[in-house]
Amino acid sequence: MNPEIINVNINKKINKSSYPIFVGNNLLIQAGELLKKYINNKKLIVIHDDFFSINKSTNSHFDRFIQSIKKEAASVNLMAISGGDKTKTMSQLTNILESVLSFDIDRDTLLIAFGGGVVGDIAGFASSILLRGIDFIQIPTTLLSQVDSSVGGKTGVNGSLGKNLIGTFHQPLAVIADTSILKTLPRRELRAGFAEVIKYGLIKDKSFFIWLEDNFEKILNLNDISLNKVIITSCSIKSDIIQDDEKEIGKRALLNLGHTFGHAIESIGNYDKKIIHGEAVAIGICMAFSFSKKLGFCLESEVERVKALFKKSGLPTAIKDIPNLLFSSDEMFDKFKYDKKTRNNKLTFILNNKIGESFIKKDVNTEIIKNFLTEEI
Ligand SMILES: NC(=O)c1ccc[n+]([C@@H]2O[C@H](COP(=O)([O-])OP(=O)(O)OC[C@H]3O[C@@H](n4cnc5c(N)ncnc54)[C@H](O)[C@@H]3O)[C@@H](O)[C@H]2O)c1
Ligand SMILES: [Zn+2]
Repeated sequence: MNPEIINVNINKKINKSSYPIFVGNNLLIQAGELLKKYINNKKLIVIHDDFFSINKSTNSHFDRFIQSIKKEAASVNLMAISGGDKTKTMSQLTNILESVLSFDIDRDTLLIAFGGGVVGDIAGFASSILLRGIDFIQIPTTLLSQVDSSVGGKTGVNGSLGKNLIGTFHQPLAVIADTSILKTLPRRELRAGFAEVIKYGLIKDKSFFIWLEDNFEKILNLNDISLNKVIITSCSIKSDIIQDDEKEIGKRALLNLGHTFGHAIESIGNYDKKIIHGEAVAIGICMAFSFSKKLGFCLESEVERVKALFKKSGLPTAIKDIPNLLFSSDEMFDKFKYDKKTRNNKLTFILNNKIGESFIKKDVNTEIIKNFLTEEI
């Protein structure tokens, strides 16, 4: 099958750079050809989610991918790490750096991240600092990573005080989003990825949101045509937003809808799978809509419509939907100071006027947000 290609253009100060996202079904089997010009007989290090080495019989895409890239590479070394945010840490990063260095790499060595957002974020971070920066390619294997984390060049690990506090901006050379790899993804992870998909409709594309309302079942049942549309639309919206704002000086922050609340919840949950990233984002987006309503920006009917789609998709919409996750409004408020949008103790939230229209609200009044949290928690 021929892939569809989205080009991500990044306008750097002096010159423009761009890279392709290949989207389609059964693409990994032809990865060698798709990536030929980047691999170019180089030494490859593939950092992959250990799911694929442990479950070879249920998901053979990884083996076929390795066979295909071997044809184009000088050598291929593999390194398995486990997914899940619990392992997105500095100590895991150190292990990766030491192991990769032991393969005698040089500045032409190419690193490939094969896994979900956790593998992509940490392997991408490693590639940005190894030998002061080597190139890398993203092969996202979860819906969340195919529609979001593999694109845009944010890499990093969690700090003990908060989510994604340590990291770099480092764009990949290319991305392959192969929908057939999703067949082994647990339902819970699929739904979590769908939360980030809904996010794009809410930020700037109401017609996409309406299409998701009509097609969520097909998407969650892994219908190929629907999945292709989901990935292409999501990546196009993301690439459109980041192209002039790679380092999040301005509008890139819109992509953070629901994440100020969401990251705080994840951090309090200690990343132990009680709650996973996409679920925290779903709750965070519902809170952002409710807060928008409280401040007079959006109608109650819009808040209810947003919550209805999350609910129908099997996602949580409030903190009380997560069993055994107890915390106070003060604990949540304290986490906001580690939000990367916070400046000089002044809080910034991404809010909505309506579905399809997010905006950046700086300098949010502390007492109002504290009152809101007391009502919500
Ligand atoms: N860099 C960015 O711009 C960005 C954007 C959004 C999210 N993120 C980050 O992404 C992370 C979440 O990503 P994620 O949801 O992909 O998590 P993940 O990488 O932890 O993957 C989720 C689970 O699915 C398993 N898995 C992966 N692929 C599989 C497959 N094909 N079949 C079966 N199991 C599979 C993993 O082992 C893991 O247990 C968070 O750390 C979040 O902060 C980063
Ligand atoms: Zn996210």
